[in-house]
Amino acid sequence: MKKARIIGTGSYLPEKVLTNFDLEKMVDTTNEWISTRTGINERHIASENEMTSDLAVNAANRALEMAGVTADQIDLIIVGTITGDFPWPSTACLVQNKIGAVNASAWDVSAACSGFVYAITSAAQYLENGAAKRALVIGTEVLSRIMDWEDRNTCILFGDGAGAVVLEAQEGESGLLSGHLHADGSYWELLYQPGFGSRYPASVSGIEQRLPYLHMAGNEVFKIAVRSMHDVAIEALENNNMTVADVKLLFPHQANMRILEAVRKRLKLRKNQMFVNVDKRGNTSGASIPIALDEANRAGLLEEGDILVLDAFGGGFTWGASVLRW
Ligand code: ACO
Repeated sequence: MKKARIIGTGSYLPEKVLTNFDLEKMVDTTNEWISTRTGINERHIASENEMTSDLAVNAANRALEMAGVTADQIDLIIVGTITGDFPWPSTACLVQNKIGAVNASAWDVSAACSGFVYAITSAAQYLENGAAKRALVIGTEVLSRIMDWEDRNTCILFGDGAGAVVLEAQEGESGLLSGHLHADGSYWELLYQPGFGSRYPASVSGIEQRLPYLHMAGNEVFKIAVRSMHDVAIEALENNNMTVADVKLLFPHQANMRILEAVRKRLKLRKNQMFVNVDKRGNTSGASIPIALDEANRAGLLEEGDILVLDAFGGGFTWGASVLRW
């Protein structure tokens, strides 16, 4: 059976950088509090005229260039995002049009911070069963537009950005070995954006109640995220008859440093087995794993045959892990 192999990666971060010191001037917080509690020092923020699809297009073009593939050779686009340009149509359709992927079907996945792992796992199924030859999988977010910039509990955590991979169906040992996805919708209220959908349609009072912004019960998210990211990474490795000793690099969703360290310690991974960039990127939700993957790839950290694990957790709750041989 053919495997879905990553033949190109790309990422894009908006130019503007917001530091913890900038945040000190915006809400009642300090650089010291943010860096010790979260490990985040700065994050990128999209400019007023940059949309989620623009970030995605920049990342996608870089991935296509590395792959040596033109947009018309792509037959599937899946975008993981919770901050699309519009509630609908999908951001994937906007990307399809902007890059000229005239032969591709296109759809979004809404799985919050697990969006990319959900998307790449889905795309791999198409490639493995012959329904598509080449797929473009993107994680892209402009979270700054759904941040309550008066809420110090949340606005310090998140950043904007996009990452993309080009997948091709290939014979051989390299590619996605397996994907493991989970959800538990009973936790929806711990991390969500209340407005504006069918439950709370658009209204002036809704804006006054801060409904169009991200709401989060941070402490509860923390505990379940650590447990779930650990469990699904082990599930994915065991499914491939592997242990943590086989892993060259684990790419966790870059939520915050304390979550990442807790997952690393539970998994008994060495520090150099986990890729971390949350200090400079913040939490970019569905974009965090493909940005990290591209940064590691372009830094020359990945060699053919390496075993990599993508490990995500996010709103829904959703979580999942993929094992791949580079
Ligand atoms: N600056 C200063 N003080 C703050 C800030 C801030 N930015 N934010 C909160 N505080 C205060 C609180 O008001 C509270 O004050 P109080 O004791 O007077 O009430 C105090 O700091 C402690 O608040 P806690 O919420 O208990 O702080 P905690 O140490 O738990 O850290 C954090 C909060 C970082 C959000 C933590 O719960 C966490 O990491 N949660 C995970 C959430 C997360 O990363 N979500 C991302 C989305 S989900 C995902 O990506 C997996």
